[in-house]
Amino acid sequence: MCSVVFLDINGCHYKFPVVYGTFYEKAINISQLRENTGIMTFDPGLKNTGIAKSSISFIDGEKGELLYRGYPIEQIINKCSFIETSYLILNGELPNTAQLKCFSEKIKKFNHINKEIYQILDKVPDNYHPMGVLSFLTYVLTSFTNFIQEKDEDMYLHLLAKLPILASLIYRKKVGLPPSYADKNMDYTSNLLKMFFSKSNKSYQHNPIITDTLDKLLILHADHEQNCSTTTVRLLGSAHSGLFSSISAGISALWGKLHGGANQAVIEMLENIVISGGNIKKWIEKAKNKKDPFRLMGFGHRIYKNFDPRAKIAKKIAENLIQELRIVDPILELAKNLEEKALQDPYFVEKKLYPNIDFYSGIIYQAIGIPKDMFTVMFSLGRLPGWMAHWKEIKLNRDPIGRPRQIYIGYKKRNIIHK
Ligand code: ACO
Repeated sequence: MCSVVFLDINGCHYKFPVVYGTFYEKAINISQLRENTGIMTFDPGLKNTGIAKSSISFIDGEKGELLYRGYPIEQIINKCSFIETSYLILNGELPNTAQLKCFSEKIKKFNHINKEIYQILDKVPDNYHPMGVLSFLTYVLTSFTNFIQEKDEDMYLHLLAKLPILASLIYRKKVGLPPSYADKNMDYTSNLLKMFFSKSNKSYQHNPIITDTLDKLLILHADHEQNCSTTTVRLLGSAHSGLFSSISAGISALWGKLHGGANQAVIEMLENIVISGGNIKKWIEKAKNKKDPFRLMGFGHRIYKNFDPRAKIAKKIAENLIQELRIVDPILELAKNLEEKALQDPYFVEKKLYPNIDFYSGIIYQAIGIPKDMFTVMFSLGRLPGWMAHWKEIKLNRDPIGRPRQIYIGYKKRNIIHK
């Protein structure tokens, strides 16, 4: 393994150290590049830039593998709950029985929000998108949570407890239901479903298949290394912004259609295909047409050049749920058909475009009864432990403030001349 590389820049020879990861992925450490050579790198979309050393999750995009703290996602999904996974992601190791009990009990202790938040939500206009409202209310939580953010580990548990409450309140306001409060006797995901769907504050009839499905979907979303929203959270953390405001920014980043917002866009696309006569070939041609801005939503990924392992699991979960609930879902059939046709098309084959997690997750949310504009809110609940672990990691690593450079292409220096 070479520990340095040499670059020739304008006839001069420069030596740079090489940084290696656990699986021998390697990067040229260019932190001294500009200082030593007067030149910098240009990498729009940060496609070739490693912005952090991280030990939280690992993706092998060529093989289609995902590990959380070293454990394959396929094992985690079958052996762990979302709350165990959250502990693992935040703390680096799986909890033992006592640690898990303590973690869960503490989250339950923080299962309430200040009454002013209910009043603030009441004033939010009904036509605001739930993701905007979630981001805003997460930020507002800062004012009502009493701890010194930099020092208190409890703030992670506060957010794990409070984000589901905010999500449920946003949903219930939307459908005209009064708040349903947390039940300390329920596990995390049962409680989440209760807070969403109970008609009165007391009764909620659980369906174990739905609870298990939602728990698994939250696990699938729990972390995904340096994606757009996580990088957003890390950037804010690097500026020493507080946890809640960093997460609020992460939620806003996730909302984007090319990122987490794709789950809503996928269902809308599938519904449009049905409405317009179900001609899959026509829509695939549209996605391939460079003059048309349309893309096949739920397809393609910056890192995966193979099947997204989360999408494979989500597809199985969707099929199982729909079969168990005896739902006839033409959208699932259409999605499977579309996937099959796209995967046979030379355009998608050559560009290595495979279904990503968002392709099937919306079908699952829909079957559970979650409205389309709440899909990305559910994604946020799943991604929360990952965001927080990255925020924590950037502090522990004492990473410098994230501050890229640019190639300025604007006006040269000029003088103001009033007309
Ligand atoms: N449909 C049609 N063509 C596509 C698609 C798609 N879904 N995705 C990528 N391509 C094409 C691009 O047009 C480009 O073609 P070109 O080389 O001829 O110009 C090529 O494939 C590479 O695509 P890029 O956009 O350069 O890849 P990038 O890594 O920048 O983008 C992204 C990845 C944003 C996910 C992209 O694949 C996309 O827009 N997909 C649809 C939206 C989506 O599903 N997002 C969710 C991602 S998963 C997540 O964030 C949770």
